[in-house]
Amino acid sequence: QAEISRIRNISKVQFGKYDLFPWYFSPYPEVFTQEDLMYICEFCLNYYGDVKSFTRHRQKCTLLHPPGNEIYRDDYVSFFEIDGRRQRTWCRNLCLLSKMFLDHKTLYYDVDPFLFYVMTSRDQNGHHLVGYFSKEKESADGYNVACILTLPQYQRKGYGRLLIQFSYELSKIEGKLGSPEKPLSDLGLLSYRQYWTENMIEILLDINETEEKCSIDALAGRLAMTSGDVESTLQALKMQVYLKAEHKIVIPTHLIRRHEALREKQKTKPKRTINPELIMWKPPV
Ligand code: COA
Ligand code: NA
Repeated sequence: QAEISRIRNISKVQFGKYDLFPWYFSPYPEVFTQEDLMYICEFCLNYYGDVKSFTRHRQKCTLLHPPGNEIYRDDYVSFFEIDGRRQRTWCRNLCLLSKMFLDHKTLYYDVDPFLFYVMTSRDQNGHHLVGYFSKEKESADGYNVACILTLPQYQRKGYGRLLIQFSYELSKIEGKLGSPEKPLSDLGLLSYRQYWTENMIEILLDINETEEKCSIDALAGRLAMTSGDVESTLQALKMQVYLKAEHKIVIPTHLIRRHEALREKQKTKPKRTINPELIMWKPPV
């Protein structure tokens, strides 16, 4: 781990058919960052400081998808699982790329302890990197996500929600409760809050119809969330009350309305979700 608290060092990156405009410093070797434009191969994630060497590379590069097993595919996205130890260079390149959009001060050069779950969008030219999350092979704190990123050209389109859902689907398969590594960035917290809120309210409204009782632990279990995250979401939404010597969960009317509006909207424009039945994955042993 290295301390990184320097200012943005790269102005523009060519990545596939997109130009990326980095938000933060990333420790690419200085020789590559001195030009106005840096080139990154969208498949192997190698980087180049001039168009000549980049073009030469593109003529040789045969990679068309992330270098791991495809563990999920639906008609919209795929997920690949990449082992940091087996694909050290690729994973380090991914960390360098994502550091341009992540504000944290440490960068993991040591990718060996991590698995990377990489989401792609397919077309006739290959699997294009949309986003990813990393996950410690053994997390002492029970984290199911270390870093999470949607590349800027794909942000605010619902991909982050798919990444988050996928991380919880893996936890369900493992039979564990998971939580993202803290501290979360502002964007990370917004996205998780949104995911947690939507899913908790969905379940609470269902339970409400059947008039069952529901505990924080039961909610946590159904969503593979930690009870800490369930509780903090309830608190943030002011959904916990203490009434007649009992803790109760109440759903404020405005949240019910918002949720009903969301359901209504989804009848015409269904939201993309991960279909858990299509996940081809067993927990690593
Ligand atoms: N402003 C306000 N709300 C936002 C937001 C923003 N810029 N970005 C996400 N959200 C909230 C919204 O509620 C959104 O739902 P909506 O669009 O239906 O309102 C919800 O999060 C999910 O958004 P989504 O489009 O699925 O997320 P994304 O693909 O943009 O990815 C991140 C979210 C966090 C992965 C992405 O912003 C990112 O990569 N940021 C930089 C890296 C980072 O900070 N990672 C977290 C480190 S802990
Ligand atoms: Na976003």
